[in-house]
Formats: sequence, C-alpha cells, structure tokens
Amino acid sequence: MADEPLILGIETSCDETGVGVVRGHTLLADALASSVDQHARFGGVVPEVASRAHLEAIVPTMERALTEAGVTLADIDAIAVTAGPGLAGALLVGVAAAKGYAVAAEKPVYGVNHLAAHVAVDTLEHGPLPEPAIALLVSGGHSSLLLVDDLARGVTPLGATIDDAAGEAFDKVARLLGLPFPGGPHIDREARAGDPAAIAFPRGLTAAKDLVAHRHDFSFSGLKTAVARWVEARERAGEPVPIADVAASFQEAVCDVLVDKALDACRSSGVETLVIGGGVAANSRLRALAEQRAARHGIRVRVPRPGLCTDNGAMVAALGSHLVASGVAPSRLDLPADSALPLTTVSV
Ligand code: KG4
Ligand code: ZN
Repeated sequence: MADEPLILGIETSCDETGVGVVRGHTLLADALASSVDQHARFGGVVPEVASRAHLEAIVPTMERALTEAGVTLADIDAIAVTAGPGLAGALLVGVAAAKGYAVAAEKPVYGVNHLAAHVAVDTLEHGPLPEPAIALLVSGGHSSLLLVDDLARGVTPLGATIDDAAGEAFDKVARLLGLPFPGGPHIDREARAGDPAAIAFPRGLTAAKDLVAHRHDFSFSGLKTAVARWVEARERAGEPVPIADVAASFQEAVCDVLVDKALDACRSSGVETLVIGGGVAANSRLRALAEQRAARHGIRVRVPRPGLCTDNGAMVAALGSHLVASGVAPSRLDLPADSALPLTTVSV
C-alpha cells in the first residue's frame, strides 16, 4: 500500500554490501555487492579486505537500490542499518554511511541487530510473523533457537551452539573435502549425488544426558572432527574419498539435529510456527527435512527463499519496517557499531 512507510536497509556486517528498499512488507529493491571472491583464496573472510570492499561498494550499491526501487532518498521514511553483531570495521562502514545519508536527507535512523533481521526478512515473503514463534537462526557465525514473542522489542534465547556455528561447520568440512569457500552451497550441491546414510556421523548433544543440560543447545565441533578423522583414515589407507557420500552424511547429521531440536522447542513452548533464517537456511536438505517433520507435528514452517537467507540489505529494511510499524523510537545519531551486539538487543 502506498501509505505504508518506505524503508531503506543497509547491511555491511560481513562480506556482502547490501542495500534493500521495502514498503511495508513489500520488497522493492535488493542490491548486493559481494567481496566473497577476494576472500576465497584465504578460506575465510579477511576483515580488512571486507572493510575496504564495503567502502568501495557502498555508494554504488545505494544508488542501484534506489534506482531499482524507482525512488529517491527524499522519498525514504527511515533508514535501517546493521549495528551488529559482525566484523567491527565492516559494520563501521555501513553505520557511518547510514548516519551520513540520515543527516543529509533529514531521516530517522534505526541501528538494528543482524540476527533479528535474518528472522524479519521472512515477512517479505510470508507476511506478518505470528507471535509467539520459534526461530532457528543458523548462519556463519551463529546457531540459536529463540522464542520470538515480540520481534520489535526483544527475543528470548532458548539455546545456542556451545562451539562451532552450523555454517562454520559447513565451511570447515567443505575445506577438508577440497571444496571452495564458502562451503555451504558446495556441500549442498555435492550431497545431492551422495547417500545420507553412507556414514553414521555423530549427532551432537542428543544423548539422554546431554538433553538434560543442553536440550536446546547445539554442538558441531565433534561432528567436524569425526568427518576429519574419517577422511584421514581413508587417505591413509590410500583409498579415494567419496566426496558426495561424506557431504551427504555430514549434511544429514547437521540437519537432523537442527530440525529435531527446533521442533522440540516448538512443542515444549506450545508454539505452532517455526521460522528458519540465516545463510544455512538456504540449505535444500534443511528446508525439505523441516517441512517433512514439522507436518507430522502440525507445525508450520516458514523459510524465506534461499536468496533472502544469506546476508542482504532487504532483511535490514524488513526489520526496520517492522520497528517503524511497531512504534519503536529511532536510534540516536551517535549509535555505535557493536561487533558483539547481544542477540536480545533488536535495535540500539
Ligand atoms: O547468514 P550468512 O549469509 O552470513 C552470516 O551472517 O554469517 O551465512 C553464511 C553461512 C556460510 O557459512 C555459508 O557456508 C552458509 O551460510 N550457507 C549454507 C548454504 N548457503 C550458505 N550452508 C549450507 N547450505 C547452503 N546452501
Ligand atoms: Zn547473516
């Protein structure tokens, strides 16, 4: 609707420079510039390289988003920007840009949480999020289960990884298998030709004793080590490594635990909606398994399309739009970039 607020979102927390424009729950533009190719040979994101790339990309990406949306900066009602968590230098570029545009065009600015934005982005595809909902947040740096009773004002963490994030496990296992960075999409692709039951890899924190203290927590580091040992044993024996089978069996172990723990959180909280967000939510097996198992328990799964799961500006605009609609006050102009912004702080 034309009378809904027009929100611009800026994302620079990691290696993607994203600028999105939304009106209410309608996505108008999602411009993205990625520095991923510059990091690939290092096997991980190099913070200084990412910051420089953001500096070069921010203005052209901003212009592209406005053109794509068919609006000017003067038309925008509020600017939202990722204030954290993320890489300090990378966040600073986005926050400084947002402040500059906000001052120049006299617009309010909202410093928002990147992780809450991964949840909010789903509203662009599936409309307002029923609350309470359970959110499974799985990205390169985080893996958490949250109770979302008021996304505009706070979320309640139920559990999180006690070691590696799910995306980190995908990236490390991919590296082990000689696949490029970031590894998630490559494992996803390789796994399609593999047998998920070929190798019985461990399911972290699912034993009866772990479920007492860590019912809603995850652990992927033991799984990663198990894959490394299995591959090493094959190589020592001079046998070829069946990449597709290892990828499929590893992926199955991750998805099995993520889905079971997320559905258990829904049941124990009496919640009927599960929303999945973050880069790993783009995984085809995770999406299929969640749908399949949730249907058995009468739980509705909401996952945005893969292109909206990985980092982008539209997700930041979507959260900004939700904050404006919920009557949350804008941030102060001296809002900080906080690399360790807690998950419970939705806006600063
Ligand atoms: O949310 P995101 O784009 O950035 C962070 O906030 O961290 O997540 C990036 C992570 C990477 O670890 C990447 O390997 C993983 O998401 N990822 C996937 C897939 N696409 C991206 N993991 C599994 N399967 C995928 N299809
Ligand atoms: Zn992210």
